[in-house]
Amino acid sequence: MIYFDNSASTLIKPKQVQKAMLDALEFYSSNPGRSGHREAIKTALEVEKVREKLAKYLGADNIIFTGGCTHALNLAILGTAYDGEVVCTESEHNSVLRPLQHLADEKNVRFKIATQAQKGRLTFLDLESHLTKDTKLVIINHISNVNGDVADIEEIGEKLKELNIPLLVDGAQSGGHFRYDMKKMGISMLALAPHKGFYSPQGVGCLAICGDIKLSPILFGGTGTNSLELHQPDSLPERLESGTICTPNILAFGAGVSFVEENFYAIKEKLDDLTTFLHYELSKLPVKIYTSTENTNGVLAFNIDGIHSADLANILSEKYGICVRGGYHCAPKKHEALGTIDTGLVRVSFSLFNTLQEVEKLIFAIKQILKTKPLANC
Ligand code: ALA
Repeated sequence: MIYFDNSASTLIKPKQVQKAMLDALEFYSSNPGRSGHREAIKTALEVEKVREKLAKYLGADNIIFTGGCTHALNLAILGTAYDGEVVCTESEHNSVLRPLQHLADEKNVRFKIATQAQKGRLTFLDLESHLTKDTKLVIINHISNVNGDVADIEEIGEKLKELNIPLLVDGAQSGGHFRYDMKKMGISMLALAPHKGFYSPQGVGCLAICGDIKLSPILFGGTGTNSLELHQPDSLPERLESGTICTPNILAFGAGVSFVEENFYAIKEKLDDLTTFLHYELSKLPVKIYTSTENTNGVLAFNIDGIHSADLANILSEKYGICVRGGYHCAPKKHEALGTIDTGLVRVSFSLFNTLQEVEKLIFAIKQILKTKPLANC
């Protein structure tokens, strides 16, 4: 089996991530931040170490642990956008578009979707005409989960900082492949998906916050603090972290961050090599590629004319044992922009643990499918 669906979730979790998770189950199963006994304190200290590590790694003031990246994005959007305008991009995932649509339906919020003038890259120029005095928040998908398009986040952050408009970055796809310094880059909020580029388990996410963004909770309940008070506490992270947090996943996420820090250049180089090689080989074949040559971040999208992308993904899985994602990728505006509303597209996504030999096998499979296309199409 060859696994090329690492943008959905990285398949192979490093030993140190697995160990952190098992250690958590063995040694840190008490409830952090609730009771005052030594077991609770011991676990809380481990969780806080991860929080501090992440804050330092991202240049953030606060880290809120969530159930995933979708939860983090919902918290950032529903917790800040009360009225006025929000500007986002055509690359947004439904975890951004659906909360925005909900706010547009239920509250006094309007949202505008900026389109990319340039192939492969979103720049500040694409946003500029959408910004008004009523813009309360800008949301940028940093790397598209559909085709690897990149937003020029440094330039956008710098300009929005000058305009004093908060910037929320969806880092689901970029986290682990890109080094953030939120303070320096003018990013107010950053949502991450640890189960992708941090090689960590599913079921944990984080919203990193920088500066004086005031967020309303979207979940209320026990925080282990001010227990006699009916109002949710003001202090962070408790204000935004009601209920028992997922300690094993958080500790494993901490190990995933260390793994990425230790292997940052190796990961970058591997993704770059594999994407470039696949792009080069595919460009010799009669396939339609939706990823720009300069975007070599481990995501490549393509289609074969006459075969629906879901069918092609199915053939690759069933006949060749190659796992890719076909169909739609929860980002409807991106499919519109790429002209793949009818067909969807096949997405290949790599991790550090993939090899050039595996890509060669994919190319071989695609060549075979192209040869037998009329049959495949039946
Ligand atoms: N958002 C994830 C993907 O791109 C699940 O596949």
